[in-house]
Amino acid sequence: MDRWKGRVALVTGASAGIGAAVAKTLVQHGMKVVGCARNVDRIKDLSAECFSSGYSGTLLPYKCDLTVEEEVLSMFSWIKAEHQGVDVCINNAGLACPEPLLTGKTSGWKNMLDLNVMALSLCTREAYQSMKERCIDDGHFININSICGHRVINHPDAHFYTATKYAVTALTEGLRQELRQTKTHMRATSISPGLVLTEFTSKFFSENKEKTAAVFASFKSLQAGDIASAIVYVLSAPPHVQVSWRNRDNASGAVDVRGLAELDHSSLTPFDISQEQNPVSV
Ligand SMILES: NC(=O)c1ccc[n+]([C@@H]2O[C@H](COP(=O)([O-])OP(=O)(O)OC[C@H]3O[C@@H](n4cnc5c(N)ncnc54)[C@H](OP(=O)(O)O)[C@@H]3O)[C@@H](O)[C@H]2O)c1
Repeated sequence: MDRWKGRVALVTGASAGIGAAVAKTLVQHGMKVVGCARNVDRIKDLSAECFSSGYSGTLLPYKCDLTVEEEVLSMFSWIKAEHQGVDVCINNAGLACPEPLLTGKTSGWKNMLDLNVMALSLCTREAYQSMKERCIDDGHFININSICGHRVINHPDAHFYTATKYAVTALTEGLRQELRQTKTHMRATSISPGLVLTEFTSKFFSENKEKTAAVFASFKSLQAGDIASAIVYVLSAPPHVQVSWRNRDNASGAVDVRGLAELDHSSLTPFDISQEQNPVSV
């Protein structure tokens, strides 16, 4: 991680769960992390915690509703003015509203599209422009996808969310292909966790707290820190290496590390980390 010390990472959705764990870990590794979310007070608390722990990096809290384009553009202008630009863009913010295809509310579908797909695309575009104007050769885009981005689970509440995560799979692969055209070492990675112990699930099952408790009691779920460790692993690979961890439906689940130049013929390169059991489908 030495080459990332002092460089700027944007982590969206840094006020809770996976984003908070990722922001903290990158600060520990010496990065300057812009952590954004609506609830900026939680990020300020996390920033103070990083400071008092003596971490070598800094966490810079920024209040932003990522579903409002003007707020996203203002955030990138602020980053440019105060911290030159973004070197690593971690699109983590996401949500699942329990809105089935046959009965769900349009507002819930729009929420998911605006955050999981549109905000991710806006941040990717703006971060790329920031890297390009500063001639950054090794910028990295990491999209927090899901196992739902690779298979449709028979759970009506999750179907629209699943569609947004399939979009993340396509967007990451499309981005990887566009980045290859730039003849740089910029990389795109999709990380696809299974169930992670965060507030996400309690929001998803908000009508049924017993169901949430039962799901988490039934097996050992992933922790937010596990995803942060995966990100450190991916960022640590030298610029000429692209790490992909194939979806276990497509291959044996082995880590697949190849030269970046070998990837012309690859299809998807998801980084799939999941537990033994898929609790959502039970
Ligand atoms: N937890 C899981 O089981 C699981 C599994 C697979 C994939 N994932 C994916 O992992 C990512 C993070 O999930 P998580 O489990 O960490 O969820 P979480 O604990 O609910 O955190 C979600 C984060 O997104 C932010 N956010 C939500 N709406 C926002 C908006 N309009 N503008 C800015 N920020 C917004 C929240 O902050 P504010 O509310 O303060 O804005 C919060 O920081 C998501 O993309 C999710 O799809 C999660």
